[in-house]
Amino acid sequence: MSSIKVKLKEKDVQQIKDICKSFGNNPGELINVLHKVQGVFGYLPAEVQEIVAQEIHVSVAKVYGVVTFYSFFTMIPKGKYPVSVCTGTACYVRGAEKVLEEFKKELGIKVGESTPDGKFSLTCLRCVGACGLAPVVMVGNKTYGRVSPDGVKDILKEFDA
Ligand code: FES
Repeated sequence: MSSIKVKLKEKDVQQIKDICKSFGNNPGELINVLHKVQGVFGYLPAEVQEIVAQEIHVSVAKVYGVVTFYSFFTMIPKGKYPVSVCTGTACYVRGAEKVLEEFKKELGIKVGESTPDGKFSLTCLRCVGACGLAPVVMVGNKTYGRVSPDGVKDILKEFDA
């Protein structure tokens, strides 16, 4: 997983410290703290992880280990248009894997990454509750059904402007 350098503002640092404090700076609350922090910042860059580690007295390696282990944590900011491919059973059976491969190819990124221009990011989702339309792809809050690998280019084109 690649990361980017960020410069945290004073108030961001304070906010992270406050979140840690709200969990009693308790090392046992690491996952909950990270959850809350990601909810605020949208992602968990190394600089943020370092502050969490320091505040709740765990090693940076431990925080990093947790962040990279759980797929719901991300070290990369979401793109302007986050692309989510449903890989739930119904979508999987109907070829979601191939659709995902096509997005990776077209965007030149892996799952969990953003394009260098910050426009698109790519994630997988569990069933989004639209199995009748499988395979399903979401871009931002727009939902696309019965997506085929051939249709991927056209979907991305909609966001070209
Ligand atoms: S499995 Fe994709 S919408 Fe249900």
